[in-house]
Amino acid sequence: MSDSKDPSGMRKGLTNYGDAGFSLFLRKAFIKGAGLTDHALDRPVIGIADTGSGYNPCHGNMPQLIEAVQRGIMLAGGLPVKFPTISIGESFAAPTSMYLRNLMSMDTEEMLRAQPMDAVVLIGGCDKTVPAQLMGAASAGLPAVQLITGSMLTGTHRGEVVGACTDCRRYWAKFRADEIDEQEINDVNNQLVPSVGTCSVMGTASTMACVAEALGMTVPGGATPPAVTSDRMRVAEHTGTVAVEIARSRLTIDKVLTEKAFENAMRVLLAIGGSTNAIVHITAIAGRMGLEVDLQALDRMGRETPVLVDLKPSGQHYMEHFHAAGGMATLLRELKPLLHLDALTVTGRTLGEELERAAPPFKQDVVRPRTNPIYREGGIAVLRGNLAPGGAIIKQSAADPKLMEHEGRAVVFEGLQDLADRIDSDDLDVQREDILVLKNIGPKGAPGMPEAGYIPLPRKLARQGVKDMVRISDGRMSGTAFGTIVLHVTPESAIGGPLAHVRNGDRIRLSVSKREIALLVSDAELARRAQEQPVHEPRAERGYRKLFLETVTQADKGVDFDFLAAPVKKGAVPKA
Ligand code: FES
Ligand code: MG
Repeated sequence: MSDSKDPSGMRKGLTNYGDAGFSLFLRKAFIKGAGLTDHALDRPVIGIADTGSGYNPCHGNMPQLIEAVQRGIMLAGGLPVKFPTISIGESFAAPTSMYLRNLMSMDTEEMLRAQPMDAVVLIGGCDKTVPAQLMGAASAGLPAVQLITGSMLTGTHRGEVVGACTDCRRYWAKFRADEIDEQEINDVNNQLVPSVGTCSVMGTASTMACVAEALGMTVPGGATPPAVTSDRMRVAEHTGTVAVEIARSRLTIDKVLTEKAFENAMRVLLAIGGSTNAIVHITAIAGRMGLEVDLQALDRMGRETPVLVDLKPSGQHYMEHFHAAGGMATLLRELKPLLHLDALTVTGRTLGEELERAAPPFKQDVVRPRTNPIYREGGIAVLRGNLAPGGAIIKQSAADPKLMEHEGRAVVFEGLQDLADRIDSDDLDVQREDILVLKNIGPKGAPGMPEAGYIPLPRKLARQGVKDMVRISDGRMSGTAFGTIVLHVTPESAIGGPLAHVRNGDRIRLSVSKREIALLVSDAELARRAQEQPVHEPRAERGYRKLFLETVTQADKGVDFDFLAAPVKKGAVPKA
């Protein structure tokens, strides 16, 4: 790294106590402690964010991915330097993985700022990791490329294809309803996650993989190869090569994460019948770029964007089938008239140019043509009304059409413990037409907005064969879940949103066609209840929880910390 024209990360951002020459001398001396030569250092330095963890089987192919990325970097003349950050495995993060997403984003951002590198490869996969990495990288501002760990394979149980985790829920519901016995539930437990990698349906991980590619943040075809395939390893090698190119061309992340890129990402989210969680994540990533997400405009976009990808939970296939069907190129080609083809990607080429270079289309049955969609509108609808003045959402493509226009009596649970205590009780006063309401699972409520919005059906109704009910909460839902479930009610109950004042027996009206969620209780009565039972916001004495509770924003702002969003507002996306 002496006189090279190559940008060298070792020179950049030096810890400089007044003598730049000495700082560089010192850095070189220490990195040589790892056995490197001057020759090795005289080239772009590419950081690799390693998020391998024994608690995260979704990232279980990390060693092979890193090896392939390193190969790509070195083939292109760069020097790979891997470094660890926090990893968040969805199933092993208490109180919720979402509680830790912003922490991971801060870890990522600060490590990118602190350590000398010219570009970074972010390796993530499990639900919160890709959003956290994109949020952190967006704030750090370096050239960055996202590598997805890839989906797990599907399994088979007694001749039927199964995969995490739509089928996890389906089998558990059968078990709760006494349709299958203990032996069978134990057997299927071995088959639901048959390999390392992320959940194999269009849950949050798969959704964010597709979103990352639509944003232009992955190499073309980077979203869909399963974790254990050679295609995935080739994507990793290619990612390493691209990282060196963006280091040399100084293609910083702001050139990729533009308004057009976010609009493309939202279009794709709607067309894949993607996870509702992605709205929160896209909002947070956009917020780091000084952009606001306009939920009403997103809803309008949804009305003209059909769901085309036939994957569970909205459809029937799994990620490996989407990959075999040509992956994102097949979908993007179908969506062409609705996309900004001039949006730049990490390859330095536009999305349109990449589509021209992609393999030619062929006959397949996973991505439908626009003339024959799975669902004629986008997967997600935005609701408003006196119960959710700041908005709420419903994944209409995964809901029961019969319940989308429904009025019913509220059966209220005050929080997760109350739900656990009473939902299976034979004494619970509940009927199939009722609406289940769960409070205190919003950003501050639980805290961390857990995926508890998929409220289980009361056991006594499940036994009667009830498969779906309208359910309402300020929480999130797993992207792999199915049901008529209203989520992200904003403002949340824990800060005194109207949801806090819903009582047993109140009437609630859901009209997806009118985009309405209404509590049929007068303003005066709600004001009276607010006075009678004032809400005390949760607080914490110390540590991360204190930071979280004092600074976390509501769902419509991405549940980011208020001080992490970019202060300068560039405007709103999507454009109306
Ligand atoms: Fe990691 Fe589903 S648990 S992607
Ligand atoms: Mg999930």
